[in-house]
Amino acid sequence: MEVETPVSSDEAESGVSTPVGTRRSFFARVTAAISTVIGLSLTIPIVGYVVFPAFQRKKQEWVPIAKIDDLPVEQPKALDYTVAEKDGWLETKATKGIWAIKHSNDEVTVFSPICPHLGCGYKWDGQDRLFKCPCHGSVYNLKGVVQAGPAPRPLDTLPVKVENGELLVIYKEFKSGLADQTEI
Ligand code: FES
Repeated sequence: MEVETPVSSDEAESGVSTPVGTRRSFFARVTAAISTVIGLSLTIPIVGYVVFPAFQRKKQEWVPIAKIDDLPVEQPKALDYTVAEKDGWLETKATKGIWAIKHSNDEVTVFSPICPHLGCGYKWDGQDRLFKCPCHGSVYNLKGVVQAGPAPRPLDTLPVKVENGELLVIYKEFKSGLADQTEI
């Protein structure tokens, strides 16, 4: 049986016979390709702007906390650490209390204020010269070493340096309940 091949209007005018849809489908493909390129060129920067910051880690910076001369020797002092945190596209200001112990004008230990057991805040007992956590009774000495209670590791120390008479600290947080210090 013979099948009749339809003729396009272009072909009818020109008198040249080409398979139906060839020219039309060619232009359709070119149009689709151009649309895709334009779409991608618009979409990729937007996705990058919106999505990628969410996967960036919190930016951590050295923050001046106190004049070194204002810190007593071998006496824990609670200090405020206030910093603008950028987490993805969210910017917030946060204040954390930290514990600083000056050993000399060049040497200072700074502890995270979070108990490594389950994350409560602890206090310094000046009479017993021990850090004590009210939640489950963990007790730490001046070096942060566990003296009593369920704490699985010593107090977490933070990076510190002394520059031009100022104490600078980088605030970090660590997972509680673990024997090893694991940064969040
Ligand atoms: S959270 Fe400090 S002892 Fe449990």
